[in-house]
Amino acid sequence: MDVKAAVIRAPREAMQIETIRLDSPRDDEVVVKIMATGICLSDIHVMSGAWTVPLPAVLGHEGAGIVEEVGKGVSHVKPGDHVALSWAPECGCCRFCITGKPHLCKEAAPKVLHGTLLDDTCRMHDHNEQEIKHYSFLSTWAGYSVVPAASCIPINKEVPFQPASLVGCAVMTGIGAAINTAKIKPGSTVVIYGMGGVGLNIIQGAKLCGANHIVAIDSNSEKEQTAYTFGATHFVNPRQAFVKEFVSDLTQGFGADYVFEAVGHPQLMTEAFQIGASASTIVYIGIVSDGVNLELPGSKVAREEKIITGSFYGSANPKLDFNKIIDFYQAGKIKLDELISDVIPLSEINQGCEKVQNKEAIRIVVEPHA
Ligand SMILES: NC(=O)c1ccc[n+]([C@@H]2O[C@H](COP(=O)([O-])OP(=O)(O)OC[C@H]3O[C@@H](n4cnc5c(N)ncnc54)[C@H](O)[C@@H]3O)[C@@H](O)[C@H]2O)c1
Ligand SMILES: [Zn+2]
Ligand SMILES: [Zn+2]
Repeated sequence: MDVKAAVIRAPREAMQIETIRLDSPRDDEVVVKIMATGICLSDIHVMSGAWTVPLPAVLGHEGAGIVEEVGKGVSHVKPGDHVALSWAPECGCCRFCITGKPHLCKEAAPKVLHGTLLDDTCRMHDHNEQEIKHYSFLSTWAGYSVVPAASCIPINKEVPFQPASLVGCAVMTGIGAAINTAKIKPGSTVVIYGMGGVGLNIIQGAKLCGANHIVAIDSNSEKEQTAYTFGATHFVNPRQAFVKEFVSDLTQGFGADYVFEAVGHPQLMTEAFQIGASASTIVYIGIVSDGVNLELPGSKVAREEKIITGSFYGSANPKLDFNKIIDFYQAGKIKLDELISDVIPLSEINQGCEKVQNKEAIRIVVEPHA
């Protein structure tokens, strides 16, 4: 079928809305009509050239839509079902999948930036027969997309597509980092660097876990009110105050119980380690550029027994966790609509990305059929 899609052909070049050819789904694939899709900093990293992925491609990796067509081997969804999309499909039988870590699936996770679907081939071509690469298996900045069946998580039809579209990246990553990765204990002091789509959802996760103090850090003071809206109890702009002293005063000199870095800045990762108490948990979510190493004070790593962990996709088990998050939303326990700064048609995708890059928006939602 012919579909409209935002095609990026080179880093730092504007995307063009092109009509491309979408092939039929193979046995374990699904065609999804994309109803809403977010813009994430990880898309921007590709557009700016900070991350290298095969191009030309259709970007976009958080989305929700309606199942249009299913491959012969697909039984868990049917045309008409509403789905939220996961960029971490699973094979279901490798060591990670069977031990409850499907987000690290040995088959799928290494291929997430390869530009193909799970069988190493593509379903998109332009009208010169040039192959258009997939991005994170989803390529949601299009009217329709062919995705792995395992990426399709059925959701309740009552849930609007706009908030549902965000569950698949920022929300899962942030809430999951708090609940699944760190397993924050009630009464804790939590510090979070970066009040973007991910950091605000770490706040929501920390709140669900019963944290006492939730300290939001952002170099943009305009994020202060937003952080409070999502449940922060304190806000510090590191350009105006010393984070280390603030956390020390708040914790009688002990340091924070949990520190999250959700910016992707190596120096902040070092600072995050320093402001944690002995035996605290330090969680790295921000992704630094390829080839960048982190500096940690070596003598303290063993002596202070800090637990340093990465968190990928909020250590998600999407089949369970997406609907858990949607239940929290429907019960009024988390905010999703407030994450959306703007809703735009696909034709305005370049302007939307610019706003995200300039930090003028939390999340912008694109509606390809608006
Ligand atoms: N680990 C994962 O699975 C995963 C998933 C999605 C995104 N990410 C990564 O998480 C990071 C955050 O993503 P996002 O979409 O929330 O980004 P975002 O751009 O929406 O938010 C980043 C925030 O950090 C703030 N910031 C920038 N520099 C700062 C500094 N020096 N000190 C304090 N605050 C600063 C900005 O003002 C902004 O509010 C990115 O690196 C992204 O690639 C990781
Ligand atoms: Zn993302
Ligand atoms: Zn697997």
